[in-house]
Amino acid sequence: MAKKIAITYEKGGCGKTTTAVNLAAIFAIKYKLKVLLVDLDKQAYATSYYIPEHKQIEKTIYEVMTDRCTPQEAVRHTGYEGLDILPSSRRFREIETHLMMMTRRQEYLLLSSIESLDKDYDIILFDCPPSGERVKENALTASDYIILPVIPDDFAIPGLIQIAEEVTEIKRFTNPKLTVLGVLITMYENTNNKTAYTRAFKQQKLLPVFNTVIRKNTKLSEAINHHKPIIDYDKRCNGAIDYSALAEELMEQL
Ligand SMILES: Nc1ncnc2c1ncn2[C@@H]1O[C@H](COP(=O)(O)OP(=O)(O)O)[C@@H](O)[C@H]1O
Ligand SMILES: [Mg+2]
Repeated sequence: MAKKIAITYEKGGCGKTTTAVNLAAIFAIKYKLKVLLVDLDKQAYATSYYIPEHKQIEKTIYEVMTDRCTPQEAVRHTGYEGLDILPSSRRFREIETHLMMMTRRQEYLLLSSIESLDKDYDIILFDCPPSGERVKENALTASDYIILPVIPDDFAIPGLIQIAEEVTEIKRFTNPKLTVLGVLITMYENTNNKTAYTRAFKQQKLLPVFNTVIRKNTKLSEAINHHKPIIDYDKRCNGAIDYSALAEELMEQL
């Protein structure tokens, strides 16, 4: 059975997709695991990362969740051994309405739609959207674990409090086994401000925080244009070093 991990946070631009695409690649390439990356964002950034011609894809997570195709038909190989992707598309913007119209068990739609892929993978990673309550609820219901990438700033602590409340609710109603692996500090810079916020995070008791911190590194953005994970694009840069350290920390926890 695959271990399922949701990469989620309340906001856009905090490194969710960067974390999802790079962790997925490191698990597959370095640890030789069978990995499926599921893109749950209508902007389809994770998809475009691995599939440049993604706009032509006809079978995506939207078609899977609305019963227009099987998950096996929608899964694509990325070209990296052991790494597959279940793509997204603009059509996925309709999914919130679709979920709203369901009369029962709407929280379980993602879980049941991809259940048949479970036996084919060691790890399934969900790249969650910044907004879309029902999609997020579905992702947390389908997951065993959560990773929370945050930029250390003013908005982060209130955001974390909100997530902690959501997790409590999901555990109570749809998924008692859900576990927060940790808060992941991203785009870290060695300034007074960021150091102070990072210290504050590590001291809070609400949620666990990873020892690994992801430093700000422009190579991570450059790699996107080359459609390569960071360990393939430049394996010596800080981005590659930090995401490899994170993968190692995760392997100890999983
Ligand atoms: N550690 C980092 N250092 C520098 N830029 C980063 C880092 N992590 C992400 N980025 C860039 O920040 C932007 C937002 O990141 P992204 O992963 O797409 O966030 P999200 O999925 O949370 O919206 C992207 O342009 C990405 O390349
Ligand atoms: Mg994203």
